[in-house]
Amino acid sequence: MNTLKLLILLSACFLVSCAPISNADGAADTLDETMHIDAHTYANVDEIRTEHLHLDLEVNFENHTIYGVARHKMSEHNTDTAIFDIKELDIKKVTIGKDNEVSTDFVIGKHSDLLGQSLKVKIKEDTKYINIYYQTTDKTEALDWLEPELTAGKKHPFMYTQGQAILTRSWIPLQDTPMNRITYSADVKVPVDLLAVMSASNPKAKSKSGEYHFEMKQKIPAYLIALAVGDMSYTSFGNKCGVYSEPELAEACAYEFVDLPKMIETAENMYGEYRWDQYDIVMLPYSFPFGGMENPRLTFANPTILAGDRSMVSVIAHELAHSWSGNLVTNATWNDFWLNEGFTVYFENRIMEEIYGKEAADILAITEFQELEVALIDIESGDHPEDTQLKLQLDHRNPDEGMTDIAYVKGAFFLRTLETLVGREKFDEFLTRYFDEHAFETITTEEFVNYLTAELLEPNSIEFDVNEWIYESGMPDNCVEIKSDRLNKMEVVAKKINEGTDVFKGEFKKVKRSDFITQEWQTFIRSLDTSLSPKMMKEIDNHLKFSTEGNPALKSAWFQLAVQTGYQDVRPEMAAYLNKVGRRWYIEGIYQELKDSKHEGDLVWAKEVFADAQKNYHFVSKSTIQEVLYN
Ligand code: BES
Ligand code: ZN
Repeated sequence: MNTLKLLILLSACFLVSCAPISNADGAADTLDETMHIDAHTYANVDEIRTEHLHLDLEVNFENHTIYGVARHKMSEHNTDTAIFDIKELDIKKVTIGKDNEVSTDFVIGKHSDLLGQSLKVKIKEDTKYINIYYQTTDKTEALDWLEPELTAGKKHPFMYTQGQAILTRSWIPLQDTPMNRITYSADVKVPVDLLAVMSASNPKAKSKSGEYHFEMKQKIPAYLIALAVGDMSYTSFGNKCGVYSEPELAEACAYEFVDLPKMIETAENMYGEYRWDQYDIVMLPYSFPFGGMENPRLTFANPTILAGDRSMVSVIAHELAHSWSGNLVTNATWNDFWLNEGFTVYFENRIMEEIYGKEAADILAITEFQELEVALIDIESGDHPEDTQLKLQLDHRNPDEGMTDIAYVKGAFFLRTLETLVGREKFDEFLTRYFDEHAFETITTEEFVNYLTAELLEPNSIEFDVNEWIYESGMPDNCVEIKSDRLNKMEVVAKKINEGTDVFKGEFKKVKRSDFITQEWQTFIRSLDTSLSPKMMKEIDNHLKFSTEGNPALKSAWFQLAVQTGYQDVRPEMAAYLNKVGRRWYIEGIYQELKDSKHEGDLVWAKEVFADAQKNYHFVSKSTIQEVLYN
């Protein structure tokens, strides 16, 4: 064992053993005083843990409020205080007991913008059940309440939650740390014309009463509890999978996701049985801040992946892969986030390779690598250059800051490089065993490194500098390289444009957008010079129609370049796009370019657009863009 690992292990042991029993006077609320391994929770999970959570909820669309009772069944314990995480929740009362509930004292700690507040509940030695009566407020960060205009059908409102990383505490009072896993059940009442679905067993159709019951029998971390309510119907793909969507989107979803049953089968053949019984997707409105979110049994998805040509299905491969990496084996803290995302991007690519072939999978991996290269430059010149290490140090920071291409792409290339070294067969055996032996558990980076060393590297006498990849900045020299002729060709054409050649009289004479897939066009756009003239940009746009007919991924790349090149004619289309799409990674780059722009009036214009568009964004995107434009 090297010194670094030893130090980390020692400090981890120190933190567990000396966590003080928190007092209920509301004073000991700074992280340094409560000292847990997960710096993003107040919960004293080292003393008492929720085992099962039952939710009684009523979703009220008139005043945008969830009224709830969170009924916690606690583990055996030896403490007089149970500490939960809350953020901007209105706590009405707390009781203990099951059939015979009695009120108990509770203290709410000081508010922190980052972590919210602690809720300290007085309990007895034999307390098994803690019931927290509460309602959400208009400051909730997890919930997005949409007026009918923002839905596909435009007739009914919609609501969904986003829990990862630490937003669940803003709609449920609980121990909001992945270090604890719980089962949950829920009784949810919604308006009668709407359907409710959760990351649990789900109804296939609306009920007459608007009441629904849910069960999640497998243990999950708190960030995976999720709820969506809207005018939805279910389309089955047979074989335990299907999609919930507004009826208006059902056909598009059925077309885009035809390969879903094959993906599940492929994933199972690779890394073992799918352990969650059912795999469905729920198609949310455009404001959803992510392409996809891996809520167990029910991936939440953004309509930007309905490209019409199945070119975005890797997002589904990704969320499905999380059923192993992330949901089955979970990062213990947000500093270990790469264990969730790096493994998932690697696994996603393997699924894509199996179904669509090596060339398609390589094209995807290269486009991701292009994004990593941009991220590396950004991070190295930013406030936290150390964020290019896989193992992060996010204590006292928003865990959201870890959602960069380091965790995703550097993480995936770490595994790819290992695979190349040991051979695919051995590597797959190793990963299958890793998922199996850590199923329904959480894991730290250090534990993973130990497992890797003992189970793969040492038995096969493989020399590999794991520490360089995980604890050092930048990209190690031994990183595998991938090439694609198809992408090279796009770069060549772009380069010709950069040099002033009229490719629309040459190789692009008869070109149509449908001649190439999204990733090829992304490479093309990314290879164009930021010094192109607005006139040239307009000509390319006239031929290829990125700003009018491009799918959201292409528009995102194209509008960034439009800002850089001063192609301002495109502002109406850009404003329409920024008003419609709330997927963070698709809009953040555009706002960032507008902020950094050297062209007249761009920042002022961006602020005007955002002032209007922000009502269409979820808190996650809104707060990120606010930060981009105003800080
Ligand atoms: N789990 C993530 C989304 C996430 C990460 C939410 C961190 C909150 C905090 C999800 O699986 C994801 O990675 N989505 C990507 C998909 C892409 C990489 C294929 C997205 O939304 O773009
Ligand atoms: Zn992911």
